[in-house]
Amino acid sequence: MFRVIASQMIVPNMHLLTVNAPAVAREAKPGQFVILRAEEEGERIPLSLSDWDAKSGLITLVFLNIGSTTGRLASLPAGISIPTVVGPLGNATEIESYGTVVCLCGCYGIGSIFPIARALKQKGNRVITIMEARSSYLFYWEERLAAVSDKVIQITRDGTKGYRGHVARLPEILGSLEEPVDRIFANGCTFFMKRVADETRPSGIKTMVSLNPIMIDGTGMCGVCRVTVGSTTRFACVHGPDFDAHQVDWEELLQRRKTYMPEEVVPLRTSRCEERHFRSQEKSHE
Ligand SMILES: Cc1cc2nc3c(=O)[nH]c(=O)nc-3n(C[C@H](O)[C@H](O)[C@H](O)COP(=O)(O)OP(=O)(O)OC[C@H]3O[C@@H](n4cnc5c(N)ncnc54)[C@H](O)[C@@H]3O)c2cc1C
Ligand code: FES
Repeated sequence: MFRVIASQMIVPNMHLLTVNAPAVAREAKPGQFVILRAEEEGERIPLSLSDWDAKSGLITLVFLNIGSTTGRLASLPAGISIPTVVGPLGNATEIESYGTVVCLCGCYGIGSIFPIARALKQKGNRVITIMEARSSYLFYWEERLAAVSDKVIQITRDGTKGYRGHVARLPEILGSLEEPVDRIFANGCTFFMKRVADETRPSGIKTMVSLNPIMIDGTGMCGVCRVTVGSTTRFACVHGPDFDAHQVDWEELLQRRKTYMPEEVVPLRTSRCEERHFRSQEKSHE
């Protein structure tokens, strides 16, 4: 069992969970993720490692409350234990001395890019972090990211902080920098990363994204996380999650992420009480 040490909503709908998982904390590297279950009979969901401390054995996860399992996770009080935290899974992000790098992030990607930006900085890169949100009140970890970046730029849809708009302004922002950019790393929702890929493709700047297809086992066995990258089939859990953004078949990925949409919506429309009733009826018919 894995004890929840802290659980809090950091901005509307975005939650931070600190969990005692010493084996994961010992081995974790930037860009890796865990697969966890919020309760005994719950489903397995992947979440990126946003931070960890090998000494205390604690890991930090930042997640958007978007559906049934993340809703359940968000409601867990500190002190409770969860049954499963498997990891660290996936390959670590390639951290090299690139020169000037841009770390682009939005939504839960603001949390998951943090260890990547930190490692890039420690490796001697000049790190420019670009954060994107609908409005300024949705930014979090600004100070943490500033501490590992040479420069932080913000974009808000409503113009309440930084540039007004969204990632479509990226070419203009990159053009305004006083230096050429050697590599871009983007973390966030699939649509955000696809837009980043579209915007950086013409410049030819190598852009790495951390893909988030549906995953089940996270060990290359089930095939659910299949993605097409450069016309080759890859399993994001074992070959990724990082891939060259300009090689990803984004339409296929967006389509495959919607596979279980009807099933995902049902538990949200049904109260937990009704859900249990249906489950017990199903069991009595077995
Ligand atoms: C490698 C990886 C790292 C991720 N890191 C984070 C993170 O740090 N923070 C965060 O908020 N989210 C992260 N996600 C996405 C997160 O796993 C989904 O939001 C979560 O599974 C939704 O579950 P749910 O039951 O609450 O929502 P549901 O209502 O079941 O699903 C909402 C949407 O989430 C996606 N989803 C559902 N089940 C899965 C699954 N088993 N695997 C992947 N996607 C799924 C689907 O596209 C679905 O439409 C990551 C996904 C991957 C693959
Ligand atoms: S999650 Fe099953 S193969 Fe990747």
